[in-house]
Amino acid sequence: MPSDALAAYGRRAAEYAEHLGLMSSVHPSDVHLVTTWAASVEGPLLDAGSGPGHWTAHLAGQGIDVRGVDQVPAFIDHARSTYPGVPFSLGSIDALQDPADTYGGVLAWYSLIHHEPSAIARPLDEFARVLRPGGHLLVGFFLGDALEPFDHAVVTAWRWPADLLAQELEAAGFDLIETHTRAAASGTPRPHGAIVARLKGADQAPF
Ligand SMILES: C[S@@+](CC[C@H](N)C(=O)[O-])C[C@H]1O[C@@H](n2cnc3c(N)ncnc32)[C@H](O)[C@@H]1O
Repeated sequence: MPSDALAAYGRRAAEYAEHLGLMSSVHPSDVHLVTTWAASVEGPLLDAGSGPGHWTAHLAGQGIDVRGVDQVPAFIDHARSTYPGVPFSLGSIDALQDPADTYGGVLAWYSLIHHEPSAIARPLDEFARVLRPGGHLLVGFFLGDALEPFDHAVVTAWRWPADLLAQELEAAGFDLIETHTRAAASGTPRPHGAIVARLKGADQAPF
C-alpha cells in the first residue's frame, strides 16, 4: 500500500475498528457466504488484509485454522489485543512472507480496493503463490459499472465491474467459480461484489 494510504489507515484505524470491525456490522449474506466458503476449504486459511481482525477471529471461532495479515500496525495491535490466541502478522499482501503452497484458502475481503488497477496483479500473484494447487480464493469488492476510483472514507478506492476483476483473477491462474452481487439498495451502502475462484492445478472430480 502506498505510504499515504498506510498513514491514512493508521490515523483512522481506531474509528474503523469501532464502526466496521465487528461481525455485527457485516451484511448477513456476507457472513453466510464467507463462513460456508471457509468451512469448505481444506488446509489453513489466510485472511489477507485482515484490518481489525474480526473476520479472522470469527473464522477461528468456527474451528478454522486461520491467520490474519495486514500492513497497518494499528490494526495488528488492535487485532492481537482484542482476539488473543488468534494469529496476526504485520506484512504486505504484495509480498507475503509465507512459503509457496502454504494455504488452502485466501480471503481478500475488501483488501484489494485500494490497489491501482495496474498494481492488482501483484497481490493476486502472491495469493496464487501461497495457495496450494486447487486452493480457494474469495474476494469481496466494491462493484461498479465501470472501473473507476472514488473517495472512500479512508483513502481512494476503486470500484470494479465483476467481469474485469474476474479477468485479473484468471490472468493470475484462477478459475472463476461464482460471482455474487448486491445492489446498494438492499442493506449495503454501495453496490457489492464477491468472486469465488479456485487456483488451477489440482485434479478436480467431475460432477
Ligand atoms: C477496507 S479494509 C478491509 C479490512 C477487513 N478485511 C474488513 O473486511 O473489514 C482494507 C484493508 O486492506 C489492508 N490492505 C490494503 N493494502 C494492503 C497491503 N498491500 N498489504 C496488507 N494489507 C493491505 C488495509 O490495511 C485494510 O486493513
